[in-house]
Amino acid sequence: MKKIMIQDMPGHIGETVKLGAWLANKRSSGKIAFLQLRDGSGFVQGVIVKEEVGEELFATAKGLTQETSMYVTGVVKEDTRSSFGCELAITGIEVIHAAVDYPITPKEHGVEFLMDNRHLWLRSRKQHAIMKIRNEVIRATYEFFNSNGFVKIDPPILTGSAPEGTSELFQTKYFDEDAYLSQSGQLYMEAAAMALGKVFSFGPTFRAEKSKTRRHLIEFWMIEPEMAFVEFEENLEVQEQYVAYIVQSVLKNCKLELERLGRDTSKLENIQAPFPRISYDDAIKFLHEKGFDDIQWGDDFGSPHETAIAEHYDKPVFITCYPVGIKPFYMQPHPERDDVVLCADLIAPEGYGEIIGGSERIHDYDLLKQRIAEHNLDESAYAWYLDLRKQGSVPHSGFGLGLERTVAWISGAEHVRESIPFPRLLNRLYP
Ligand code: 4AD
Ligand code: MG
Repeated sequence: MKKIMIQDMPGHIGETVKLGAWLANKRSSGKIAFLQLRDGSGFVQGVIVKEEVGEELFATAKGLTQETSMYVTGVVKEDTRSSFGCELAITGIEVIHAAVDYPITPKEHGVEFLMDNRHLWLRSRKQHAIMKIRNEVIRATYEFFNSNGFVKIDPPILTGSAPEGTSELFQTKYFDEDAYLSQSGQLYMEAAAMALGKVFSFGPTFRAEKSKTRRHLIEFWMIEPEMAFVEFEENLEVQEQYVAYIVQSVLKNCKLELERLGRDTSKLENIQAPFPRISYDDAIKFLHEKGFDDIQWGDDFGSPHETAIAEHYDKPVFITCYPVGIKPFYMQPHPERDDVVLCADLIAPEGYGEIIGGSERIHDYDLLKQRIAEHNLDESAYAWYLDLRKQGSVPHSGFGLGLERTVAWISGAEHVRESIPFPRLLNRLYP
């Protein structure tokens, strides 16, 4: 008999098959039992009828506890009522391990309880769907960049520099030196772009941010493309094409998951390039018109501001050209103004906040040296970075997309803690 996975069942209608599965849930009466089975690849309903299988097997089925593991045999039947398209008419059950007192019962549970049981919570339907969507975003990311001439480059995790400012660094010892966990691979990606033209990285980044919001993780994954000879506006075009590509890939390849999450897919279908752009100056004016008098030109946006701006559009929106004072040291100044820089944040719809930060980078040696001094950075740690501006320096641009915020938005999860398998949060290092 063929051992198959649940996701492959629609191709085996009418056949007798064997599954390795766990019991997700169960409903039964005196004559018939419905077993909700899961095997990692998917979920399917198994039906077992007392008259057909006899007393003993039926009693075994009725006695199964939640999350018991087993081999199940049965005939694959077409079932047009389920969105999955089939169910299993069970003819045999071989219990492997009977689970005891599985804590995450089908009733409602509090968030802290679920987080303490994250190692088990991952098995639930909703979490399963979000992880599948995360996987699709990763798959589509590689596909997009590989098919557009980018080379994958892995910047180091242990570093001596701080691209995004020194206040949120995780410090560690590197033998006798001080080192930091990477908060962004960008500076290294700039060096790589000068060697390979168009590059992208995908890896973990760390921010010791004392923020406890639904958008902040301490450890998160970032995709960081960097491109030589690419200027500000071209950089935005790559971003909108990339974001549209991953959203459309999820719509195409994760239909069941989006349905299970109850995601309103009409909002995602609309995510096609181009995306709207609003300058920082105009965003401030817009906020004042909307009655936000708590923000002045020169201030950074908080999430209520970002949400108010995002609500005005039905696609992600670029906020461009922020004041030089609230952005990192490496951003290229605006050609006609010295008070703003050639950067953009991409704000997701529906209140999910900033999913991309990007900019054109300074390519002039003297200006970069001056900025490093103005930001009180230790020039010796950035000597190699400055050196790039001495050896055939060119205009170049790049950006960083936060994976978890993007996955939370696409899947409609309320908090980024659900879009990473084992979230590291302000008060959480367990499990
Ligand atoms: O805007 P950020 O800080 O930009 C950079 O790190 C640049 N060096 C990237 C580059 O140009 N190569 O971070 C980029 C993105 C944010 O837009 C957000 O999506 C995500 O990373 N991000 C976080 N996600 C979860 N938790 C946090 N604490 C995050 N901080 C940033
Ligand atoms: Mg940012």
